[in-house]
Amino acid sequence: MADENKAAIANDDVSRRQFFLKLGLGSLGIAAAGTAAFAYQFLNPNVLYEPSPIVNAGTPDRYPLDSVTLDVNSGIYIIHSQEGYFSLSAVCTHLGCLTAWKPELNMIACPCHGSKFAVFERANLKPGDKIEGPAPRPLPWKRIWLNDDGDLLIDRSTEVPPLQRDSFVRV
Ligand code: FES
Repeated sequence: MADENKAAIANDDVSRRQFFLKLGLGSLGIAAAGTAAFAYQFLNPNVLYEPSPIVNAGTPDRYPLDSVTLDVNSGIYIIHSQEGYFSLSAVCTHLGCLTAWKPELNMIACPCHGSKFAVFERANLKPGDKIEGPAPRPLPWKRIWLNDDGDLLIDRSTEVPPLQRDSFVRV
């Protein structure tokens, strides 16, 4: 009888020992999984890859003289004037609406609150200057150049001063 009790106590000890061993191993496994997940996130940060600010607008012959072409996807105008090719931002400086070229008015107009901008030089106005409306600033000029393949490239992230020699592409 005493032997049976000893055997039962020994069995209890073994099963308790096994239970705590499994509990410990399970805890270690959970901790290791958490560490691995943290390490993976650390090595693969949440980075937002934005599109390049450089736009390839194709060859200059796509743009007839005195034309104003809106690239809706890029938010820029490519303008072929007597002075050469230049680029204006198409994003209104008031609250950021996309503007539109209005050939019948010979100006760029914003559909949101009615700002209007000059495209070609006219009395006291440079291309991009505000004609009327709430926009606080002119439409900025963007850097434009020709690449080795003869394509017009525009850097949307770089503003250039209006009417300067380097602000035009002449071909
Ligand atoms: S967003 Fe263009 S006038 Fe307001």
